Amino acid sequence: MSNSIGLFDSGTGGLSVLKNAIKKIHNKNFVYLGDTGRMPYGVKKPEEIRDYTLEAMGFLQDKGVDLSVIACNTATVHGLDASVEKYDYPILGIISWASLDSVEVTHNRKIALIGTESTVNSKVYDNTIKSLDPRIEVKSIACQDLVLPIEHGNLEDAYMEKLIRKHLDEFGDFDYDTIILGCTHFPIVKKSFKKIFKKDNRNVKIINPAYLSIKRAMEILNIEKDNEPLDNRTIDFYLTGDIDLFKHTLNQFLNLSDFKLTFNQVNSDDLTKYIK
Ligand code: DGL
Repeated sequence: MSNSIGLFDSGTGGLSVLKNAIKKIHNKNFVYLGDTGRMPYGVKKPEEIRDYTLEAMGFLQDKGVDLSVIACNTATVHGLDASVEKYDYPILGIISWASLDSVEVTHNRKIALIGTESTVNSKVYDNTIKSLDPRIEVKSIACQDLVLPIEHGNLEDAYMEKLIRKHLDEFGDFDYDTIILGCTHFPIVKKSFKKIFKKDNRNVKIINPAYLSIKRAMEILNIEKDNEPLDNRTIDFYLTGDIDLFKHTLNQFLNLSDFKLTFNQVNSDDLTKYIK
């Protein structure tokens, strides 16, 4: 075992999960696979997303991780069950945890969900939340056009706020008190969401799917709350697309100066061996 945790996303979105992970877990290294060369996933066919997820879980297993988090809602929707079935090591998705979090937080039982086209069309969030509490109303809006600007690090406030507001307006008079950022790219611009709700004088709880999923990972790996920091911690990034573009977004969002980092190019054609 390499004493590490694997994270997988189509691109930079998983960094929002990594951010939460490094805040709480100090005694593990991390291995991050970003399929940046083949993203966005949210517009792809379900079988394709499933296969990419299976490849990613095989890749991370080869790196010797103790557990992998599918740090991508879209990949969780289409690839979690198949991955859990295929591989013999702990693999977590993020949707059931985000759903649980939202159900615990809402007071008026109205939850808004935003995600990729594929996540919203799948209705997995709606069904999971309803199974937890059938009295809850869920309204979902696809915000696929937020993904690429975030991926490419175009995070400028005014621009983001305009893009986000356009989608929030689509909720019309649906009076939600809780919103799930059901695409891991979106928490990267959480402060733009906060600003909008503040301007509108609305008290909306923002659910980041990372929180409970990392808590669950800690339970599975028996990581205590006050876990002792490891010396010389590492994060190894493996990317199927442009490394500099990834770093451009990463550097605006996360300070990883406490870690030894490596950035490695992966050819996505080489990943296909894991599902052959
Ligand atoms: N970050 C991803 C998610 O959580 C997907 C974005 C995309 O590749 O379309 O759904």
